[in-house]
Amino acid sequence: MPNIAVLTSGGDSPGMNAAVMSVARNAAHFHMPLIGVKRGYNGLLGKSTREADDLVKLDLDTVLDIADNPGTYLRTARCTDFLDPAMREKAARKLKEMEVLGLVVIGGDGSFQGAMRLCELGIPCIGIPGTIDNDLAYTVRTLGYDTAVNVCVDAVRAIRATSRSHDRPHVVEVMGRHCGDIALSTAEATGAEIVVVPEVKWKVDDVAAQLNRQIAMGNTRATVIVAEGCWESMAPFDVYKFLKPYGKQVFEGEPMTANRFASILKRKCGMIEVRDTVVGYTQRGAQPTARDSMFAFEAGAMAVELLRNGVSNQVIGVRNGKTFHMPIEKALAAKRPFNKKLFNLINSL
Ligand code: ADP
Ligand code: F6P
Repeated sequence: MPNIAVLTSGGDSPGMNAAVMSVARNAAHFHMPLIGVKRGYNGLLGKSTREADDLVKLDLDTVLDIADNPGTYLRTARCTDFLDPAMREKAARKLKEMEVLGLVVIGGDGSFQGAMRLCELGIPCIGIPGTIDNDLAYTVRTLGYDTAVNVCVDAVRAIRATSRSHDRPHVVEVMGRHCGDIALSTAEATGAEIVVVPEVKWKVDDVAAQLNRQIAMGNTRATVIVAEGCWESMAPFDVYKFLKPYGKQVFEGEPMTANRFASILKRKCGMIEVRDTVVGYTQRGAQPTARDSMFAFEAGAMAVELLRNGVSNQVIGVRNGKTFHMPIEKALAAKRPFNKKLFNLINSL
């Protein structure tokens, strides 16, 4: 029986292990050996001194316990070598030597670009969208997004309890790279009063005015959710010039951060304190929610089925509540809609 290979690539996301487990169970069902490629595309380039650090046999016994685990058992990495066509040819040769029927790539848009290039070199690939960012337009949900949002919601609920106790506004930064979906969903689910995202241009003074409006209405403990990418869409603001006179430790040219933003809002809104929290890696390293685990289960099964049927160059997603697949190139060309109506509603109340 031919082999199947699987790898996880890019930032880890909750549900990656569950997807590997599903691929493993489906491959085992059809008596197909499964090879795990370690550390993203690196594992195909023979960089390790021991082959076991690059490639592992993933029989059921090995992976049976990993499905619910956070992180990725296969490890992950960003492999810059893979941007080099010669390196990709080397990887394709390795996969041919391994006599793989195909490769399942669990990662984000960058990883899918890599998969597309491997398809061009004759390696059948199927992509599973493993990223918390939800920045892939072709699917309503990426694997890990639901978990990340739930982690942020738990964090913001706890923060809002303390904000309430002390009558203090709070700035919470969540992940998402260039995508504001985690921030928007978190704000919607927690009742946070202000949300700032990379998709919408904004000014520091406008957010300060929004916060002042909340304070004037008697809400002295509003939550400002900022997506980590929102600093890209901020109108130029001289952090040094504003904060230095207050004795803050800041150097000329330093960028805006959640911490500095909280400091600025404190001064612009006349509050005793505005505190900040960066939710960070707890969003990525969490145990997957049932929703993410269910998607992982279905995606793993679909990936093996597609490869068995000789279908390649596809990515798997969710639409209208159903798991589906489509060509990688078409999926990557899809334009991501941003829910401006929801954004406006949250910020206007
Ligand atoms: P993600 O998959 O989460 O978007 P990255 O953008 O960091 O994460 O991409 C993960 C890896 O995919 C990169 O480190 C690289 O190995 C591979 N990759 C990214 N872009 C390309 C590309 N244009 N061509 C080939 N491989 C790519
Ligand atoms: O793609 C997932 C993600 O967590 C993004 O939200 C974030 O911008 C990025 O990865 C951070 O990557 P790292 O800390 O692994 O370099």
